[in-house]
Amino acid sequence: MGDEIQPPADQLAAVSLGNDAASSSTVQKARFADRVCIKSILGRSDGGAGLAGQKVRIFGWVKTGREQGKGTFAFLEVNDGSCPANLQVMVDASVSDLSKLIATGTCVTVDGCLKTPPEGKGTKQKIELSVEKVIHVGPVDPATYPIPKTKLTLERLREFLHLRPRTNSIAAVARIRHALAMATHAFFDKYGFLYIQTPIITTSDCEGAGEMFQVTTLINQSEKLERDLIANPPPTEADIEAAKLIVKERGEAVAQLKAAKASKEEIVASVAELNNAKGNLARTEERSKLKPGLPKKDGKIDYSEDFFGRQAFLTVSGQLQVETYACGLSSVYTFGPTFRAENSHTSRHLAEFWMVEPEIACADLEDDMNCAEAYVKFMCDWLLEKCYDDMELMAKNFDKGCIDRLKLVASTPFGRLTYTEAIKLLEEAVAQGKVFENPVEWGIDLASEHERYLTEVMFKKPLIVYNYPKGIKAFYMRLNDDGKTVAAMDVLVPKVGELIGGSQREERFDVIMERIKEMGLPIEPYEWYLDLRRYGTAKHSGFGLGFERMVLFATGIDNIRDVIPFPRYPGRADL
Ligand code: 4AD
Ligand code: MG
Repeated sequence: MGDEIQPPADQLAAVSLGNDAASSSTVQKARFADRVCIKSILGRSDGGAGLAGQKVRIFGWVKTGREQGKGTFAFLEVNDGSCPANLQVMVDASVSDLSKLIATGTCVTVDGCLKTPPEGKGTKQKIELSVEKVIHVGPVDPATYPIPKTKLTLERLREFLHLRPRTNSIAAVARIRHALAMATHAFFDKYGFLYIQTPIITTSDCEGAGEMFQVTTLINQSEKLERDLIANPPPTEADIEAAKLIVKERGEAVAQLKAAKASKEEIVASVAELNNAKGNLARTEERSKLKPGLPKKDGKIDYSEDFFGRQAFLTVSGQLQVETYACGLSSVYTFGPTFRAENSHTSRHLAEFWMVEPEIACADLEDDMNCAEAYVKFMCDWLLEKCYDDMELMAKNFDKGCIDRLKLVASTPFGRLTYTEAIKLLEEAVAQGKVFENPVEWGIDLASEHERYLTEVMFKKPLIVYNYPKGIKAFYMRLNDDGKTVAAMDVLVPKVGELIGGSQREERFDVIMERIKEMGLPIEPYEWYLDLRRYGTAKHSGFGLGFERMVLFATGIDNIRDVIPFPRYPGRADL
């Protein structure tokens, strides 16, 4: 039992180091599982060479398998997801039926001995496993397995969300996403931010854009009622009259017994019958009011009958709620799923995506921009340090320049310019013959083509555009002294366009009241938000980073549907 309390030193090393322990001659067992991680063999700086002679148990899925030597042995390339590299595994026909092992997708657990491969076979492997015993085989019928050895496009792989984690590309994306999530928590923890879990179900629309998915049980309820009313038709007027008549008769019976000075028992029994009849009448009247369809009041749907007693939605952003913690704990962030019912069919939009939203008290727009820039740089450095092998796979399969881009972004200051300056640059480009689909003039919301032109063509690096016209931004952004612009900022990056949207928040009660009214939004749902300005108001700022957009930017993958495990977009929500 000692093991459970104090893992052996080699296991501790596996946890703290992850990849490099070339100086050690012992293998690192996966914790909580009966296997050695392939990463702990191949991820060493010696490629595993120093482990020759070690006996290990390996587990994974066969990427490719081939029988050789006229069927006397087979080579399997086995991957367990711990790193992009496969371990070469050699099985002799005397050990196992080779034909059951070689199909792509087969799951194997094998015991064997690590050996230095024979020289001069053109192999890059520094170590291979010679199998002594096959412990488990999860077979695959190659005739029906949807993920063959030959590469499928990412688009085709979307048809098999449940099997695509077994492909090199999707597995690498999963490791990169994990690393970016860890980097996020490490960055904010380092600077004293608290991680706050904001609600997924909300009753306020943060962006005021009306792109919310509604959360309701009214529809299930009304369907259930409809079925119930078909099985048990509601009482008619005649049923109610009959029930009333029984009440009347029972009432008269009680009166007669009392007048006749009947025994106490007789009167009590008769009163009980009267009460039964009254109860039955009440239930009959109540049921007669049931109508199929949604509950209505004054011609509108009556949400007081809904689960929360009011209308509720899936959140589009945790910002408003996380502001309440910033205005109490100073530096906070939230990181969770957000939902937008916009009918966008682009390669940059999802209906369900993850957002990282820091919120900083006593910070202005410049502090906000500095935080955003430091955070993005931190994530780039983190990937270069922790995921270099996966990034190499991205460079090979999707975007040659992705590693250089991470290095550039980590080391180069972002460009900064006002919206007005950005429009001027775009107008100059148009004057020189550049053609955009969307016209350029002061006051427009920058389209993706404008954003990408600025960051990819003009600046060739990330860019922060700030001080946008108030007409195109949300009600909570701080009005600048010019009365025309708000203290908003967007971080634009090559490949993606908008990666981050943020702002200094309007902390002045009168001004924000005015803005809410001006935008035609109802005051009531925002009363609690206004309280943050009524009581102890504070200068504060924050931003939201689209997590999948960060993965797109880092990997160079083209479509956002391929960088989230379970993409949701108009018409699709598999699994
Ligand atoms: O610019 P947005 O709408 O800002 C907010 O939601 C603020 N409340 C954030 C804040 O200040 N706390 O969204 C922030 C980011 C965008 O820059 C973009 O990267 C991403 O979220 N995003 C999406 N990502 C994928 N699919 C969508 N439909 C997205 N909509 C926004
Ligand atoms: Mg935005």
